[in-house]
Amino acid sequence: MKIGILTGGGDCPGLNAVIRAIVRKGIFHYKDEFVGFMEGWRGVLENMTRPLDLRAVAGILPRGGTILHTSRTNPDKKEGGLDRCVVNLKKGCVEALIALGGDDTQSVSQKLFERGVKVVAVPKTIDNDVSGTDICFGFDTAVSIATEAIDRLHTTAEAHNRVIVVEVMGREAGWIALYSGVAGGADVILIPERPVDLDEVAETLKRRHDRGIYFSIVVVAEGAKLGKDPYLQADAAKTDEFGHVRLGGIGAVLATEIERRTGFETRAVVLGHILRGGTPTAFDRMLATRYGVGAIDLAHQGSFGRMVALKGNEITSVPITDAIAKNRCVPQEMIDVAQSLLDQ
Ligand code: F6P
Repeated sequence: MKIGILTGGGDCPGLNAVIRAIVRKGIFHYKDEFVGFMEGWRGVLENMTRPLDLRAVAGILPRGGTILHTSRTNPDKKEGGLDRCVVNLKKGCVEALIALGGDDTQSVSQKLFERGVKVVAVPKTIDNDVSGTDICFGFDTAVSIATEAIDRLHTTAEAHNRVIVVEVMGREAGWIALYSGVAGGADVILIPERPVDLDEVAETLKRRHDRGIYFSIVVVAEGAKLGKDPYLQADAAKTDEFGHVRLGGIGAVLATEIERRTGFETRAVVLGHILRGGTPTAFDRMLATRYGVGAIDLAHQGSFGRMVALKGNEITSVPITDAIAKNRCVPQEMIDVAQSLLDQ
């Protein structure tokens, strides 16, 4: 079978491991032929391709980023964009397409599937919030990097008697903030699932001070909502082709507010894209490889319009429509675990 592969949306560690697994199993086991579409949906729209053979995937397992590059191109926002994609796939004799991406990328997969394209989806987002699957590859790496940073920030915060606000990725869901915050022993964890109460944050930090502890770590997801003004920190003028505002900056706003309300010297650190770069952990390489193998198997079972998924420790699949229906937010039970450890 001739199969196309693309990576869309924000990158994350493990994309290359998925590509490698698809290509290796496809060639060794099914005698497939592959073509890589460059820069996400832009590659399909503008017919930007590269060959994907065993040589192309050699040595990419530990590499961050994606050898296919990525973009947030939305063919549905271009005049006749979806039809152009269908035509280009036909012209290239591409019989099936494996799309690695989050809900935005997969919303296009679904539209193309409805136009007859044989699509298999692989869930991908550093935010870990794709529905229908339990964990996305790259998340473990991001949490490890954030946790190490929080450990390091603890010692400098303590040395200077400071509050340090650590801003991490997480647009609609606070998985990275919650996991790294708990693993790193943060004193306050702020996530999009629960509106930020600045008075409560200040009181928590003051209580620590009253107990004779003069430093604190606050972890905040970039999509956390400050009071009535959602995305107070977002640059609303900059939106991508899927309508998402560019986030980043809530840490600085929080640091100013904390210092104003408590009088404690407060600094902000943005981990941002550091969490998405570099080599994946062994866990993510394994998970990415299982997703890749699962995706090529789905294609050969003829299970199109589906997304490979992890349920418990089993690789299975769900309809793409399930994956794009809503974001998978942090459940109350996990929020309660984190809350129960904090000085409320
Ligand atoms: O969608 C995942 C994500 O990592 C978000 O957490 C973040 O807001 C966004 O991507 C950043 O995207 P970009 O790399 O385009 O700035």
